[in-house]
Amino acid sequence: MARITAGVGSSHVPLLGVAVDQGKTEDDYFGPIFQGYEWTKRWEEEQKPDVVILVFNDHATAFDMKIVPTFAIGCGERYKPADEGWGPRPVPDVEGHADLAWHIAQSLILDEFDMTIINEMDVDHGLTVPMSMMFGTPDRWPVKVIPFAVNVVTYPVPTGNRCWAIGEAIRRAVESFPEDLNVQIWGTGGMSHQLQGPRAGLLNREWDNQFMDALIGDSDAARRIPHIEYLRETGSEGIEMVMWLIMRGALGKETRCLHRHYHIPCSNTAIGHLVLEPVETG
Ligand code: DHB
Ligand code: FE
Repeated sequence: MARITAGVGSSHVPLLGVAVDQGKTEDDYFGPIFQGYEWTKRWEEEQKPDVVILVFNDHATAFDMKIVPTFAIGCGERYKPADEGWGPRPVPDVEGHADLAWHIAQSLILDEFDMTIINEMDVDHGLTVPMSMMFGTPDRWPVKVIPFAVNVVTYPVPTGNRCWAIGEAIRRAVESFPEDLNVQIWGTGGMSHQLQGPRAGLLNREWDNQFMDALIGDSDAARRIPHIEYLRETGSEGIEMVMWLIMRGALGKETRCLHRHYHIPCSNTAIGHLVLEPVETG
């Protein structure tokens, strides 16, 4: 059977994609950010996951105000890097895993989560930046990816509790897939950031770290953090962190932290990165 073996949390700041594409990852500004991902790059080479369920948000690239799906799953065979205004990033196409994706879609919908199914989409920095952070610059990505898009751009966005619950349902879906597959789930976005308005540039190191603490161990208190707390404490775009709760929910009752990294500043935000593994509680 397929198994979720680990969860990864990571910011997806578009400037990091620029740093990779322009060979600046070792300079004074970007060096300390990228160094925090070196452990994970080596670990991923050992882990060799078959598939990553990559929870991310589209930033008005594939979707806009014409259509705003709350939860959407990519069931296609491949996805191209999107043109976000400066041409597509020079990164490989993302290969999907259509069989597992359709299985998860069916399982979630019969489990009463109303998914939108996507067969064609270009993927923006929300997906390609975490790929670059974890895998560097290969000619071909070493994993298949199931894009799992969450609306965190236009209110009403899903609650933390709903995100955690859909993570639990993703775990049930993966474990009912008969093929032996090593599956990881990544939650991306965050940490504290606000890109516009009088509070633009807001950072909250203490709150971000409390949030990461809350994903380690057996507490599920983070699922009850209300939207207003993300907004007040972490700025308008801090709500992206609810996507990490899908990853956490999919890891089961208890987690162990394998690696952790936090750095301020990066562009307008804080960089947060966490590698978790499920603790089998029997
Ligand atoms: C920035 C961060 C994001 O998460 C994003 O989607 C766009 C921009 C930033 O800090 O510049
Ligand atoms: Fe974002």
